[in-house]
Amino acid sequence: MSLRRSYTIIAPLYDALLETAGGRLRAASLAQLPQQGTQDILISGIGTGLDLPHLPPGHTYTGLDLTAAMLERVKPRIGNLQMNLVQGNSMALPFANECFDHVVLHLILAIVPDGRACLRETARVLKPGGSVLVLDKFLKPGETAPLRRMLNLLSRHLVTRLDVVFEEVLAAVPELKVAGDMPVLAGGWFRSIRLTKAG
Ligand SMILES: C[S@@+](CC[C@H](N)C(=O)[O-])C[C@H]1O[C@@H](n2cnc3c(N)ncnc32)[C@H](O)[C@@H]1O
Repeated sequence: MSLRRSYTIIAPLYDALLETAGGRLRAASLAQLPQQGTQDILISGIGTGLDLPHLPPGHTYTGLDLTAAMLERVKPRIGNLQMNLVQGNSMALPFANECFDHVVLHLILAIVPDGRACLRETARVLKPGGSVLVLDKFLKPGETAPLRRMLNLLSRHLVTRLDVVFEEVLAAVPELKVAGDMPVLAGGWFRSIRLTKAG
């Protein structure tokens, strides 16, 4: 099954499963965005828009997702935010080079089949001096995690990869540097990472 098909099935259940659990983590990650100003911000793999209540107003947001059924659920959350929705692929972004000041990658980098392509595309559309906010689950370099690697054989086709090592993904995108990296959940399996692109 493709991720698009499985997220079409999951869409009506997604908020019930994830809305409460992630709120505090989303809020802490998004608090790193400028709280004032009118910058261009991409939310790649926006899902049903659970990040929206935590976004500072004033900026111009673009929300991209592969799955129409997930994007539909963003619409009632937009309220007063300036938000354009685009159906597209985080691994092949339909945007010009260097057109966003910041990119949010919440629960997408370890979900797509090719995290390196996703991060490369993120760096391409990011302006020099811009930042990337990552919130996701990663194995540590050298971590064997046999159960997660076994579950990954199925889960990578349905909802998410479980075998992604962040450091291996980052190594493919040398223009991005780590500005912050905090364990936030499940003994450091989930991390909140801030990357910057040299200005
Ligand atoms: C786990 S959800 C995360 C949604 C949201 N970022 C959040 O934090 O709740 C993963 C999302 O990625 C989307 N997705 C999967 N593959 C994608 C791709 N290649 N490009 C863009 N979105 C994708 C799915 O449709 C789904 O909405």
